[in-house]
Amino acid sequence: MSDHLLSEFDALRVIYHRRAVRAYAPEQPAEAEIRELLGAAVQAPTAMHLEPWGFVVVQDRALLKRLSDRAKAMLLKSDFAVGWGSAAAHKHDHPKMLSDPAFNIFYDAGTLIAICRRGAGAFADADCWLAAENLMLAATAKGLGTCCIGFAVGVLNEPDVKRELGIPAEGAAVAPIIVGSPRAEAAPVGRKAPVILGWRK
Ligand SMILES: Cc1cc2nc3c(=O)[nH]c(=O)nc-3n(C[C@H](O)[C@H](O)[C@H](O)COP(=O)(O)O)c2cc1C
Repeated sequence: MSDHLLSEFDALRVIYHRRAVRAYAPEQPAEAEIRELLGAAVQAPTAMHLEPWGFVVVQDRALLKRLSDRAKAMLLKSDFAVGWGSAAAHKHDHPKMLSDPAFNIFYDAGTLIAICRRGAGAFADADCWLAAENLMLAATAKGLGTCCIGFAVGVLNEPDVKRELGIPAEGAAVAPIIVGSPRAEAAPVGRKAPVILGWRK
């Protein structure tokens, strides 16, 4: 196999292997590992080369618990749409899950990386999400698990939380990602075949 094919094979393996991980071992990723993930994140494509992202790393478990509890209360009071990814596919009952005092929206992972935009901009959110996917794929390649936590977006964008975490007032938390050592192999989650809406030749 040529080098070219080998790297394509590895890249595709990582893409197909990544799964949302919702059960973590207690140990934290090392700081050097997190810095490697951030390095991979910022290799993402970025509109007009603006690199509008910034990263908040939270490894304080008491703070994560406080954010989780507040997010749950906010979500229960809000009119949030039911149907986030596998929560719907697995028929999770969101109100019941969010009312459970034992449920932690960060699944007791010890590390949250909130990918934030530092200002406004037509494609700033897109850039942050592209960085998020890079980060998750890099974590997969390193044997770490990740999961996007959409449940956390609201609480992270509360003005006092933004101030506490150092997110600029004119910016916003876009993509909260938990990271850690998976406690077990995540179950495979299938995908429907690509829906091709058009293909004009
Ligand atoms: C924008 C976004 C928000 C998400 N929010 C949550 C969340 O709050 N909690 C959760 O358990 N999973 C969340 N997920 C993970 C999805 O449920 C998961 O990616 C989906 O079920 C597909 O599974 P897979 O990632 O293992 O392929 C989110 C994913 C995305 C892209």
